Amino acid sequence: MLKPWLSRFTVLVTVLAVIGNIYIFTYPSLYPQRCSWRCANQKVAIDALDSLSLVEKTAYYARRYWEDVRQQFGTAKVVDRSSRKDMPADVHLLALGDPQIKGVWKNTPYLSRLDTYGNDYYLGHIFAMMKRRLRPSHVAVMGDLFSSQWISDSEFYNRTMRYTSRIFQRDTSWLEKTRQESHDADGLYAVDWTTFADDLGERLQKQPKDFEFGYNDVQTWDPAKEDYLFINLTGNHDIGYSGDVTYQHMARFHELFGKDNYWIEYGRDTEHPWRIVVLNSMLLEGPALQQQLVDKTWEFLYRLFEQRFDGSTVLLTHVPFYKKPGLCADSELFRYYPSDYEREPYKQNLLRSQNHLSEDATRRVLNLIFDNNKPGIILTGHDHEGCETVYNKDAKAKWTASKAVSSTDFHVREITVRSMMGEFDGNAGLVTGHYNPRTKQWEWSFSLCPFSVQHVWWFTKVVTILSGLLLSVMVFL
Ligand SMILES: *[C@@H]1O[C@H](CO)[C@@H](O)[C@H](O)[C@H]1NC(C)=O
Ligand SMILES: *[C@@H]1O[C@H](CO)[C@@H](O)[C@H](O)[C@H]1NC(C)=O
Repeated sequence: MLKPWLSRFTVLVTVLAVIGNIYIFTYPSLYPQRCSWRCANQKVAIDALDSLSLVEKTAYYARRYWEDVRQQFGTAKVVDRSSRKDMPADVHLLALGDPQIKGVWKNTPYLSRLDTYGNDYYLGHIFAMMKRRLRPSHVAVMGDLFSSQWISDSEFYNRTMRYTSRIFQRDTSWLEKTRQESHDADGLYAVDWTTFADDLGERLQKQPKDFEFGYNDVQTWDPAKEDYLFINLTGNHDIGYSGDVTYQHMARFHELFGKDNYWIEYGRDTEHPWRIVVLNSMLLEGPALQQQLVDKTWEFLYRLFEQRFDGSTVLLTHVPFYKKPGLCADSELFRYYPSDYEREPYKQNLLRSQNHLSEDATRRVLNLIFDNNKPGIILTGHDHEGCETVYNKDAKAKWTASKAVSSTDFHVREITVRSMMGEFDGNAGLVTGHYNPRTKQWEWSFSLCPFSVQHVWWFTKVVTILSGLLLSVMVFL
């Protein structure tokens, strides 16, 4: 009685599982161009697509998909970043927007726990797919790694563990070691922030101030283990806005994720220098809780300026630059703690949140970084919707944001990378840098590779498990 019904159901579930898995493991092939680095000889999409009939269109997309799948899984897979020996390799930077992973607490319902657990692997799937397909030279997570700045050291550590192992499939032995070196009486991670604060105070006092911000030609932090460079950015949910950021916030970020402000110069003494600038945009404005932390960020920018770098710049920072309302989803918004704030009186009047940098901070930062008028690109996070804007510099070194280029002097594009969260379709941003020997300039391009809402991934996992169970039941019936 049961058997025919069951076997039909099993076939259905198995077919769904196969389709689901094919989809989640080949999704970038549906958008081969957006999900590939820009090559100098890349084919342009055919303009005449609109005039095709539905059947012809379907055939076109199917062929495009199939060709890409064949390329990905075939033997002829080559990732060659440099086309000519005497030219620098293309820069292939994977930019991932705001993962914002949540925590699990004692009273978190089981369904939300499962959701949080699955979400880690959903994000991990995106990263694994992109890494396999694209072999990036750089990977940058655009800040807001976690969902809240108001968490204990132990929770911060636990999320770092998940971030490192589940999402980015990286070695965690150093994290274990860090916990053994700094923990509380219960063995839980606790950062030694007083030493951090004392050290910062001392360094700020020295003349010149004693900071090391710069690197040269770093291809990876760990040559024995990996061939790409991993960059973690600070976001307001990791350390807070400047009215919230404590030494404790900064100390643990430094210990587990590295510096918040630094530059890496590549090929400084060649014809084709370029650099990465990582900027902590939470600590530029105020009123701040710890002015010293803001002072340090400005010190960083002055030092960067003094480098008199003559190449192209890729600026990575979390909070977008100032722009008029209507250009992106978020408009300018500054909130301050009220002057009678009872809950935490020491925060009264301090900066509580911001959507953009202020107009003044924008001008100062851009003039310090893009002073040499060499082409570059700005990548930001924060506004989960994603956006593209152009910053036009006029003769008086004033900057105006617009949708199109309006300056004849100099402009730089700001890409707000759409979030990799499921609600925003699990995007990955692809930045290609190509040195053009004719113009002797770097050229930067960006594309967004979308996956789909987390439910599709979940559905695939569920039907896969279910079909496994059903198939084994069928064997015994
Ligand atoms: C972090 O993880 C450890 C080990 O699983 C656990 O004992 C601890 O309670 C966690 N911390 C928090 C704040 O939940
Ligand atoms: C950034 O975070 C990853 C994952 O936790 C870690 O492996 C890496 O060492 C961090 N980068 C730096 C410069 O500390």
